Amino acid sequence: MKTTEITVQELNAQEFIKTKVEEISSMVGDGIAINALSGGVDSAAVTMLGHKALGKRLKTYFVENGLMRKDEPQKIVELFKKQGVEVILFDAKEEFFSALKGIIDPEQKREAITQTFYKNIFGKLVKESGAKYLLQGTILTDVDETVAGIKRQHNVFEQLGIDPQEAFGYKIIEPLVQIRKDSVRKVAEAVGLPVSIYNRMPFPGPALSARVIGEATPEKVELVRQATTIIEKILADVKAFQYMAILHNDRVTGMRDGKRDFGQQIEIRCWDSVDARTATPTKLPYDTLMELSNCILAEVPGVVSVTYNIAAKPPSTMEAI
Ligand code: XMP
Repeated sequence: MKTTEITVQELNAQEFIKTKVEEISSMVGDGIAINALSGGVDSAAVTMLGHKALGKRLKTYFVENGLMRKDEPQKIVELFKKQGVEVILFDAKEEFFSALKGIIDPEQKREAITQTFYKNIFGKLVKESGAKYLLQGTILTDVDETVAGIKRQHNVFEQLGIDPQEAFGYKIIEPLVQIRKDSVRKVAEAVGLPVSIYNRMPFPGPALSARVIGEATPEKVELVRQATTIIEKILADVKAFQYMAILHNDRVTGMRDGKRDFGQQIEIRCWDSVDARTATPTKLPYDTLMELSNCILAEVPGVVSVTYNIAAKPPSTMEAI
């Protein structure tokens, strides 16, 4: 069934919240639902809608998949505590890294992440909690790109003809599926989340594994995590839609301490965009680019090359896999 878009011009955030809270309440009835909070604006907005609708009958988990940014699990648990929402940390690092082992193809990597989340982890959490529903933050752009065959977003099923009940044993509720990122931010603000969340830049479901080209090993993910920390610190005041570090698979010759060093390459991407459908690279000042490069070369072990992406979406996409 085609999803009807609610554009940002059409959106009345308070009315949207009221409608979605009612929908969630009537679907779940007096049962239990779970949701996974990643700290991104989409899952944060869904967490708040779900808690308004279900209170303690919504169990919110932060899945520590080993692919998140530095200190992210603790930061998010703390922040939601202040919102009155208890978030349960669930350690699944081993499951994700063993699912990603040996995979180099981008779409296979996405599929491995999807199966690990939905079959293994959520399957287990649903059983343990007695829930019949998973609430998730799929937005319209995720559906569009998946259906168009551009990229398999980790959270799209029914639009691909996959029945989650049959495939995983639970139903999925998607309160944000009619809106795009700009509207999600309005909903997140209206539902009482702090600016650090509603203006937070997007972060993909496959997390840092989407930013390692080739096999996402724990070592490579750690390397891209370090570069991400540097980029997010230096670009914190830049008004961009999203910025990221990408670790390339190919190595290049460099030199360190007077010796040849066949080293790693980090690509920086920084995007201007409204709704992620199209995007252009931000015109960062050259001094900022040099600061980024100098810090990454000095602080991230083994990196000998830093580049800045200047290709727009399309034909590029924002994430590298
Ligand atoms: P792309 O790379 O498709 O990214 O141009 C567009 C926006 O979507 C985010 N993204 C994802 N979000 N699950 C998500 O929830 C995914 O699998 C996924 N892949 C990309 C990306 O970070 C950007 O904001």
